[in-house]
Amino acid sequence: MKIFAIESSCDDTAAAVVEDGRRVHSSVVASQVFRHVEFGGVVPEIAGRMHCEAISDVASEALARAGMKISDIDAIAVTAYPGLIGSLLVGVSFAKGLSLTCGKPLVAVHHLRGHIAANYISHSGLEPPFLCLVVSGGHSHIVEVTDYTTMRIIGRTRDDAAGEAFDKTARTIGLPYPGGVHMDKLAENGNPDAFKFPVPKVNGSPYDFSFSGLKTAVINTIHNMQQKGIEVPREDMAASVRKSVVNILTERFLLAAKDTGQSRLVLAGGVSANSLLRRRMEELCRERGLELYYPELSLCGDNAAMIGAQGYYEYLSGNIADMSLNARAEANIEA
Ligand code: KG4
Ligand code: ZN
Repeated sequence: MKIFAIESSCDDTAAAVVEDGRRVHSSVVASQVFRHVEFGGVVPEIAGRMHCEAISDVASEALARAGMKISDIDAIAVTAYPGLIGSLLVGVSFAKGLSLTCGKPLVAVHHLRGHIAANYISHSGLEPPFLCLVVSGGHSHIVEVTDYTTMRIIGRTRDDAAGEAFDKTARTIGLPYPGGVHMDKLAENGNPDAFKFPVPKVNGSPYDFSFSGLKTAVINTIHNMQQKGIEVPREDMAASVRKSVVNILTERFLLAAKDTGQSRLVLAGGVSANSLLRRRMEELCRERGLELYYPELSLCGDNAAMIGAQGYYEYLSGNIADMSLNARAEANIEA
């Protein structure tokens, strides 16, 4: 079954053709980041307008690269939630129009379920059940995936998402938006033990995260040094922050794995591209005899191939949308 998928939840306009949830015939991503970088973050109004400008060309390009016509496609999948409402609406409206004019079924996909499904493309043998650490720019969850469309959140962030924690601390050391990837590169040449930051516990919820204390500690450390006229060693700061974020994530994720008895662990979302997170999880899983999966780098960030992969499984479970489908800024991954 061939699915034509569309993703426009934040600042990437993307389209893809994916067969049977696993085989990518084409995947096109048009990033807008060059327009948002001067503002230090995504400007929703600009994002929505740029999706409108790009979506037709991106969709045509995805079909052309797959060597297909819309008549070769069996269903249309689209990210309908969660995300920036003005961005989501562009993809959802486009997909509804396509579904109506071509008479193809429409499938609504939860963006974070899509991030998880990126792993089905990278690992053809991977099947639920597994425990997944979903870490993106807007969300951080530990999710028990019992089957392709049944999931339960067992841990979540109480404040910032992991990607936000990277982006906000990166900003304090003068790195451009989105800071996560720049911080990751800078950290490779730094001393991760140069600065000690707290690893907070969240009362009553052993699998929940909190990153706001780390952000405040980093800002205070930098201000203190600046007041004393001491230059901030950026590589050491980046390495120390990265180590703290990765420690917080891995500690909670492995505790959740132990307590739930899950031996198959999966990483997903933009932050799953982080080189220390991948390395550290490899080490910890090897020591404990756990299986570990993460997407290839090109599928960690936002893309439509992952939406096509999850769209296939949503379709198989009968989750077919109709013309009343609307975009939503918030949505629970479980529902
Ligand atoms: O999943 P994603 O592409 O978009 C959302 O759905 O939010 O995640 C974007 C986030 C950003 O915060 C970005 O800084 C972070 O993923 N990110 C990274 C790395 N690459 C992207 N964070 C840490 N290390 C990286 N290598
Ligand atoms: Zn995302």
